[in-house]
Amino acid sequence: MSHSVRIYLGLAVLVALSVLFLLSVVHTAAGAPRSGPRAIAEGHRLAQAWCETCHAVEPHMAGFFDEAPSFQAIADRSGTTALSLKVFWRTSHRNMPNLVIPQEQADVLSAYILSLRDR
Ligand code: HEC
Repeated sequence: MSHSVRIYLGLAVLVALSVLFLLSVVHTAAGAPRSGPRAIAEGHRLAQAWCETCHAVEPHMAGFFDEAPSFQAIADRSGTTALSLKVFWRTSHRNMPNLVIPQEQADVLSAYILSLRDR
């Protein structure tokens, strides 16, 4: 192995480790559960309360409105991640009202939406 390859490998490992570290810090920062069955149940409840007027929020439900995709459809898209959902909620969108979703609620809502993928 040449010297420069080793340096690159070393750097890659360092970057990977710092990302993992940051993720674990972010993950443990909040008191409330952000994943797992309780977070998913809470997200389900919030989705019914806040989002159901426009989105189909239940598992395996097709969208009933043209404009808003069903949560199942959103979950089934391979590009959907907790991060992509939160980025969407923080940016302004053309057709969806700009909801201000606090961090904790964004966590449980994304946990709920992503849980639909496995059902
Ligand atoms: C007043 C109607 C309305 C409400 C209420 C609403 N949405 Fe939406 N939502 C839309 C529409 C319309 C779109 C698609 C257009 C767009 O992307 O702006 C959308 C898009 C989305 C998307 C992105 C889908 C994609 O194509 O990537 C997500 C995620 C989402 N909504 C989540 C939510 C959540 C979570 C709530 C409840 C907290 C919510 N929405 C409440 C109308 C609504």
